[in-house]
Amino acid sequence: MTYNFGVYHWRRRARTLVASALAVAVGARLFGRRGHIRRLLAAGLVLWGLDTGGDALSRLLRPPPWRPDREKYEALAAELPLGSANRLLDVGCGTGRSLVGLASRLPGDCTAVGVDVFDDRVILGNGPRLARRNAARAGLEAATVRGDAARLPVADDSVDVVTACRVLHDLPAEAAQRTLAEAHRTCKPDGAFGVLELPLPHDKSADPVAYWRDRVADAGFTVTTVRDIELERGRYIIVVAEP
Ligand SMILES: C[S@@+](CC[C@H](N)C(=O)[O-])C[C@H]1O[C@@H](n2cnc3c(N)ncnc32)[C@H](O)[C@@H]1O
Repeated sequence: MTYNFGVYHWRRRARTLVASALAVAVGARLFGRRGHIRRLLAAGLVLWGLDTGGDALSRLLRPPPWRPDREKYEALAAELPLGSANRLLDVGCGTGRSLVGLASRLPGDCTAVGVDVFDDRVILGNGPRLARRNAARAGLEAATVRGDAARLPVADDSVDVVTACRVLHDLPAEAAQRTLAEAHRTCKPDGAFGVLELPLPHDKSADPVAYWRDRVADAGFTVTTVRDIELERGRYIIVVAEP
């Protein structure tokens, strides 16, 4: 297996798996006892356990931890001046899917930095070493730094291209806006910033495309490209901007 991007939402899904296994076990035991009500209850438990457990099991491997899922990153990369980038900063790099997805568009001498809190309570295996290893397997030497997206440990005006892939929606609204301000602070004046987001605005009533575009603009960027793309594995919004 070339890559390992970890297992997403593993705790929640593992809890569901344990609960459904228990339901099946209890249901199977009850089924052997007398009484229609007991048997009905037992059948209900077994059916619920099998259905819920099967669903949790299939979600555990969705997306498969070994699959880069490049399409969405390629769509973002196509809008960014990656070919001339000497320094890339990927905010919320996680286990490195976004670094891997952007790698083929970067010049060989580009220095990549991935910043993340590397919270392994959400993604099993999330850590700086795994991100580095995955990036290296895609031919990209990346430095990975543990840090908060809202307080990036990166100097002002020092990065040619800043990216934030699938991270802003995971943050509270205020932290997401501070993260965008940090992207603006660290991006060189002639650099570029790219966001790849899910259609999940903090304001549930907002149009997701306008929402992410406006958040980027609110951070002081000039938005140059907005794309709303529908891929086999879901809908994504791309916003590209200049400081
Ligand atoms: C869905 S993953 C996306 C990872 C990667 N960019 C990708 O496209 O696969 C979201 C990442 O955001 C990170 N994250 C969450 N809160 C963060 C914060 N405050 N600062 C930095 N990273 C954060 C998580 O640890 C996780 O690795």
